[in-house]
Amino acid sequence: MRPDILDLVLPAPLRTRLDALADVHPAVLTRWDDAPAALASADVLLTGWGSPLIDAAALDRAPKLAAVIHAAGSVKGHVRPEVWDRGIAVSSAADANAAPVIEFTLATVWLAARRTLGAAAAYGHGHVPDFAGRHGADGATVGVIGASRIGRGVVARLAAAPAGFRVLLADPYVSRAEADRLGVELVTPDELFRRSDIVTVHAPDLPETHHLVDARRLGLLHDGAAVINTARGRLVDTEALTRECAAGRLDAYLDVTEPEPLPAGHPLHRLPNVLLTPHIAGCQGTEVRRLGAYAVDEVERWLRGEPLLGAVRAGDLARIA
Ligand SMILES: NC(=O)c1ccc[n+]([C@@H]2O[C@H](COP(=O)([O-])OP(=O)(O)OC[C@H]3O[C@@H](n4cnc5c(N)ncnc54)[C@H](O)[C@@H]3O)[C@@H](O)[C@H]2O)c1
Repeated sequence: MRPDILDLVLPAPLRTRLDALADVHPAVLTRWDDAPAALASADVLLTGWGSPLIDAAALDRAPKLAAVIHAAGSVKGHVRPEVWDRGIAVSSAADANAAPVIEFTLATVWLAARRTLGAAAAYGHGHVPDFAGRHGADGATVGVIGASRIGRGVVARLAAAPAGFRVLLADPYVSRAEADRLGVELVTPDELFRRSDIVTVHAPDLPETHHLVDARRLGLLHDGAAVINTARGRLVDTEALTRECAAGRLDAYLDVTEPEPLPAGHPLHRLPNVLLTPHIAGCQGTEVRRLGAYAVDEVERWLRGEPLLGAVRAGDLARIA
């Protein structure tokens, strides 16, 4: 992984735990050429943000490799299909990275339900809304796009909230029976946009989810609705959303954009009804150690011959983040 994040991912107590479990190569590798002997003898690669690609050429130099344990979310940019072809187990810490995104989204849902951005901007101009003109969360309809691990976590938290949220879900992989179990109403994406007060995007970036939130669907939202995106910028047509927000018709809470980062002069930076954050919903700062802790737990499970909790299966790659 990137050397600058090593101490965040694996602070001293975690390094001590890992050292007690295994012979750990002392240096963090950013190129396989840095330690060919270590690669040749490795049973497990513990990877993270910035780790070198594990492709056929790397695998040819790692004949003993049995597991890749990734102390970060998606493995897609790090691991080539040959890894699964050779029967090597792959695990990711996406579950650990999901937890703060779920909390961040919940916080944002509450801000959106109160139309907080408008109230804050008006306050800056000396306007305090009277009580009759204020907004609340009770009974709001929240449309969740994608019953991903994050989407499911958001659904569970919404169900437990005292506001009595009505939750709509759009996800082609979820059956009606499963939607019933989750306590959501399964709808098409169009119906979700027609009926939601707040739409929150949690599907992965896949060819079929590119601009899933486009100008036409944004047009189905009622005036004053909000769009939350903590997934990936490519799922939303940024320019179409910018037009809706600039017209004052929709509010937006965007942790991710297309492109990312958004250029400094982009109008989204200036709109009072848009909260733009620089991809900070996942593990940050003091939370990053959760990814390392998850990975060290996985190493321990692998050593005991137990199933990996974060196992990533080749057959799921077409529908996961
Ligand atoms: N902002 C951040 O810091 C941050 C951090 C972590 C993850 N993310 C993003 O959050 C999103 C969810 O991540 P995850 O790990 O929970 O994903 P995941 O891998 O668990 O999602 C897979 C699921 O998404 C659903 N899905 C697939 N295609 C869909 C479609 N066309 N429409 C609706 N649903 C579909 C399916 O239920 C599938 O099983 C991803 O876009 C991911 O990149 C962002």
